[in-house]
Amino acid sequence: MKEQKRKTVLSVKNLKVNFPVRGGLFGKEIGRIHAVDDISFDIYSGETFGVVGESGCGKSTLGNAVLRFLSPSDGAIYFQGENLATAGKDTLGKVRKKMQVIFQDPMSSLNPRVPVGISVGEALKVHCKLTRDEQKKRVADIFEQVGLKRDQVNRYPHEFSGGQRQRIVIARALIMNPELIICDEPVSALDVSIQSQILNLLMDLQRDRKLSYMFISHDLSVVRHICDRVAVIYLGRIVELTDTDRLFKTPLHPYTQLLISAIPSPGLKSGKKAEPQLLCGELPSPASPPPGCAFQSRCPHSKAICREIRPELTQSSSDHWAACHMIPGDKNE
Ligand SMILES: Nc1ncnc2c1ncn2[C@@H]1O[C@H](COP(=O)(O)OP(=O)(O)O)[C@@H](O)[C@H]1O
Ligand code: SF4
Ligand SMILES: [Mg+2]
Repeated sequence: MKEQKRKTVLSVKNLKVNFPVRGGLFGKEIGRIHAVDDISFDIYSGETFGVVGESGCGKSTLGNAVLRFLSPSDGAIYFQGENLATAGKDTLGKVRKKMQVIFQDPMSSLNPRVPVGISVGEALKVHCKLTRDEQKKRVADIFEQVGLKRDQVNRYPHEFSGGQRQRIVIARALIMNPELIICDEPVSALDVSIQSQILNLLMDLQRDRKLSYMFISHDLSVVRHICDRVAVIYLGRIVELTDTDRLFKTPLHPYTQLLISAIPSPGLKSGKKAEPQLLCGELPSPASPPPGCAFQSRCPHSKAICREIRPELTQSSSDHWAACHMIPGDKNE
């Protein structure tokens, strides 16, 4: 029987985001940072698509470009039948209801002087023709769905714990019934015990509402817990893309292998987690990436070809893609 085709919610094609590097007396442009460098992927209905890599590799820039908080330099972002990369203000306003965001720090995304129920219900005022009572009921309902009490709507952000504040931000993201939520390090600022509560909440909400998530994280153990498929990013490019089980069982790219080997063992975890430490070397500057493979300066398997030719993302086996000269391609393609 033919495999049923999954519905694509978001399709990103050859996306690039460059930032100018300025220098000298007059702040002239002296180079460009290639923060996102030719990235393509699809997110399917009801799945959690992970984007993982160490700090500075371009994860947030990718998320912000998909949300159109910043303008891509090139490429396309298809969502709800529109190309957001070139869409105007009106179209962006319309589709933003269906694409929401959860950031790492809930305190900075909530107004400290406004009761949290007002912040959560803001979008209802703008986009829905509801009476005040209907708005209040919708907000109280959503509070309950994210594990808060209905009467907590009148409190201020400082009256909540970090985990509760993240629940409020999740409630705000849900209020317009989005199709896709971009989660940028949503649990990285929380203690480990609270992290799993929030991850479980996200998974429950996904099951009940058929949501899709783009889940950005530097933490592979979190990604392993929640994601269905994962793109590993290095210096603005996808170096490996496959489903989560396969990524952890048979990681192909040397960078993925190093990231997985650097996951702290569960016995060592306490309180907040640290960024994973690679065994050697640092991320090269995205303003002057090395020629050939961007990972060559840190790769234990680097050969002469790696210093000259950039490896393309190639299918290695069904649903497993990697960008490395030393990985054989799929002979059955
Ligand atoms: N607004 C900006 N202007 C210039 N450079 C930026 C800007 N935003 C991000 N960068 C650079 O782009 C690269 C990727 O950053 P970012 O997307 O924040 O990485 P990550 O989220 O993976 O830590 C970094 O080198 C960062 O310094
Ligand atoms: S292409 Fe070469 S340098 Fe790059 S990851 Fe593969 S072996 Fe290492
Ligand atoms: Mg980031």
